[in-house]
Amino acid sequence: MIGDDMIKELLFSKETIEKRVKKLAKQIDKDFDSEEILIICVLKGSFVFASDLVRSIKNSECIIDFIKTYSYGNRTESSGVVSISNYPSIDINNKNVLIVEDILDSGLTLKYITNYFNDLKPKSLKTCVLLDKKERRVVEFSADYVGFEIPNKFVIGYGLDYNEQYRGLSGIYSVTKL
Ligand code: PRP
Repeated sequence: MIGDDMIKELLFSKETIEKRVKKLAKQIDKDFDSEEILIICVLKGSFVFASDLVRSIKNSECIIDFIKTYSYGNRTESSGVVSISNYPSIDINNKNVLIVEDILDSGLTLKYITNYFNDLKPKSLKTCVLLDKKERRVVEFSADYVGFEIPNKFVIGYGLDYNEQYRGLSGIYSVTKL
């Protein structure tokens, strides 16, 4: 639980997120030119963003699968290790894969996941992140679609948690310890 010694500040309202997600979907519609997309939702944090995004994509048929990763070691160093704990079940071969993440931080997770998918020879591979904490990067990585660039603040809501809580908030908030 967020205690009295912490400040919760609204970064992006429900309406702001809605508008941005629709814009991203429009761009995706344009780029994929009505071709089928295999959306890979990276659990857990991305489930809200992915479900809104998939309902805003109008021109392409979207099929959905899920992947779950875990990491150990220090994510503030490039030595941090990422592994996959739940693999997608749909055959990736010859699919237009779009990996959907809630947040791009050190870059270790998306770097690992994109390497994994590239080995499976998709037709194309793109990444879409809602939030990008560019200043935290420890490995080089740029997403193809970015919702918002944010400063190095701890964020909750819209799928993002604090000790597994607050994923259901409609807006995105920063949390700062006093
Ligand atoms: C978050 C986020 C990404 C990862 C990004 O997941 O959803 O998967 O961290 O960080 P990186 O760029 O430093 O690798 P988290 O471990 O918080 O798990 P969760 O989504 O299940 O809450």
